Amino acid sequence: MIKSLRKTLLLWLLGPLLALFIPGTMLVYLLGLHALEVAYDRALYESAIDLLKAAQGATLVQDRLRLPRAIRDIVLSDPYDNVYFSILDAHGTLIAGDGLLTLPALDSDNNSGNTPTYYDLVIDGKEVRALSLSVDADHSLRVLVGETRHKREMLASDVVSDFVLPQVAIILLAAALVMWGVGRGLAPLEGLRLALAHRSHQDMRPLETAAVPIEVLPLLREINSLLTRLSSVFESQKHFIGDAAHQLRTPLAGLAAQIDLARSQANLPQTAHALEQIKGVSDRLNHVVNQLLSLARNDAGADRAPVMTPLDLNDFARGITLEWVERALERGIDLGFESGGHETRVMADAQRLGEALDNLIDNALKYCPRTSVVTVRVGERTLSVEDNGPGIPPQERARIFERFYRLLGSGKDGNGLGLAIAKKIVEMHQGTITVEAAPGGRGALFLIRFPAATPAMVGSAAEIWK
Ligand SMILES: Nc1ncnc2c1ncn2[C@@H]1O[C@H](COP(=O)(O)OP(=O)(O)OP(=O)(O)O)[C@@H](O)[C@H]1O
Ligand SMILES: [Mg+2]
Repeated sequence: MIKSLRKTLLLWLLGPLLALFIPGTMLVYLLGLHALEVAYDRALYESAIDLLKAAQGATLVQDRLRLPRAIRDIVLSDPYDNVYFSILDAHGTLIAGDGLLTLPALDSDNNSGNTPTYYDLVIDGKEVRALSLSVDADHSLRVLVGETRHKREMLASDVVSDFVLPQVAIILLAAALVMWGVGRGLAPLEGLRLALAHRSHQDMRPLETAAVPIEVLPLLREINSLLTRLSSVFESQKHFIGDAAHQLRTPLAGLAAQIDLARSQANLPQTAHALEQIKGVSDRLNHVVNQLLSLARNDAGADRAPVMTPLDLNDFARGITLEWVERALERGIDLGFESGGHETRVMADAQRLGEALDNLIDNALKYCPRTSVVTVRVGERTLSVEDNGPGIPPQERARIFERFYRLLGSGKDGNGLGLAIAKKIVEMHQGTITVEAAPGGRGALFLIRFPAATPAMVGSAAEIWK
């Protein structure tokens, strides 16, 4: 499974944040509730103190305390909750209040007066928070005050909306910031990807390290070190091809010269025959070497970029055809040239395109029998070689452009490289090469089509082979 750095970072940053959010929010909520409870308990305590003070100053009439009206109003008036109170004498007899509050279950005996005991009870099915407060440790006067929990519960739900909802908003904001931050943090990697994606396969310069984060730097250094090593391998391969070409061509040329000299002086028929054979082998060897080198030169990774210049196909093809006339005569083939077309100017590397056309003419002269007719023709951004020889069976037409692919039974020497080379060169020009049956029904027609020469095309062609 492919791991996403972005997802991993988000998971490890947001995961703990969310995991802490739940207990954190609960803690805030409980602390809020506690503060609320303390504040309301305090207010209850103030009421009890007021009642106690009023009770101490009041007179007993028929076993009931006569409390000032004002104090009853203050203590009992509450817009949200029912308030209850009871005042008991030293014997626990009710001397004022409603008597609805029971005594706390755990009334501390060491209560030394004025220390409130808070407790919870239920009156008429409603939860009530109450406190008991005595004047002295012997409870000579005891005040019980209680209130239902309505406003406490209302405020608790306010705590939720006032604390928890902002918390959720903060966490969402934090998540958005984390995502944005991760995106920003990974941006240099995207830059690096683009730099690599737009790089030519031959560009072995080290990657720019200036704008790269320190964490990625070691990776980049390794890539750069790999590039340096690859670059030296490429260089040595280029040198090898160059050296091999030189090393092979020179002795082959020497061999051919020596054979020619020996042939001119040979007086024994056997010697002449042997020399004839050697001459053939030498020519073929020379051809193989040239074809292999041509393929290496024109293959992807070639060390020389094509030199694209405006080229008039008429002049160009006429010149190349002329160079083959002598060979055609030797073979008894009628080699002709037909110019034509309005748009005959294309952007091309003349030397390379020459190699492509050479291979097509070479094939036509090689595979057609004597008295055949071969025509090199220029059209509207097209170049073709037509012959009336054996032709190419339809099922073989795609494969003959493959390297080392030859048709059986032609009875001619060859390496199966000529058309592969021609195809490489045509593709380098962003053109196409196809083969079909010649119009007369006999023979083959090889057709090269060039694209319209826009400046962008010229630029990108040069880019591919940079
Ligand atoms: N004009 C043609 N007429 C008939 N057959 C052809 C023609 N041109 C090419 N072929 C066939 O296509 C095959 C591939 O041609 P290609 O030029 O790639 O290789 P080759 O001529 O065999 O070797 P090389 O060109 O490397 O010396 C040839 O072997 C031949 O059978
Ligand atoms: Mg060939």
